[in-house]
Amino acid sequence: MEIRYFDHAATTMVNPAVLEEMLPYLKEKYGNPSSLYTLGREAKRAIEEARKRVADILNCEPNEVYFTAGGSESDNMALKGLAHSNYNKGKHIITSKIEHPAVLHTCKALEKQGFRITYLNVNKDGIVDLNELRRSIRNDTILISIMFVNNEIGTIEPIEEIAKIAKMYNITFHTDAVQACRTYSY
Ligand SMILES: Cc1ncc(COP(=O)(O)O)c(C=O)c1O
Repeated sequence: MEIRYFDHAATTMVNPAVLEEMLPYLKEKYGNPSSLYTLGREAKRAIEEARKRVADILNCEPNEVYFTAGGSESDNMALKGLAHSNYNKGKHIITSKIEHPAVLHTCKALEKQGFRITYLNVNKDGIVDLNELRRSIRNDTILISIMFVNNEIGTIEPIEEIAKIAKMYNITFHTDAVQACRTYSY
């Protein structure tokens, strides 16, 4: 019986080009990048080269790129880091009802720590209503977090417009682009 896999949004195989580039570091050059000896320095060099390549794709500086173990860690780090570092400016965060649990659970945790969260509705196609977003902005809004591509229905959110609105009100914008990386890298 032939088995077909249709759940690539849940997880997918490693891109063969990535596997090929990674194999030497998994098999031979597995040094700790913080070590002083050659094996460690080689690993450090590879990480810094990877950081530069990612920065070139994202059009940012290499020192603005942080590697984490995955999406949940990144969402947690971004949301909690931004919320707590802006604590004195305000405690209101806007997100949507269809975010991944990595964002929704982090928002729930922040609510317990005194932050107020607005969960935006989406229309029948899963798109965030920009007018509702504008209406939800308050004087104490410190962060807007709307995902790029939804992991269940594949909706692409209008993050360029959302980023413009956030910029207009001087609010930090975060997007969970986990599925966008997967969508746009194949
Ligand atoms: C949109 C989105 N955000 C976050 C995550 C969590 O990523 P991870 O499983 O790497 O923690 C996923 C996982 O598929 C996801 O689809």
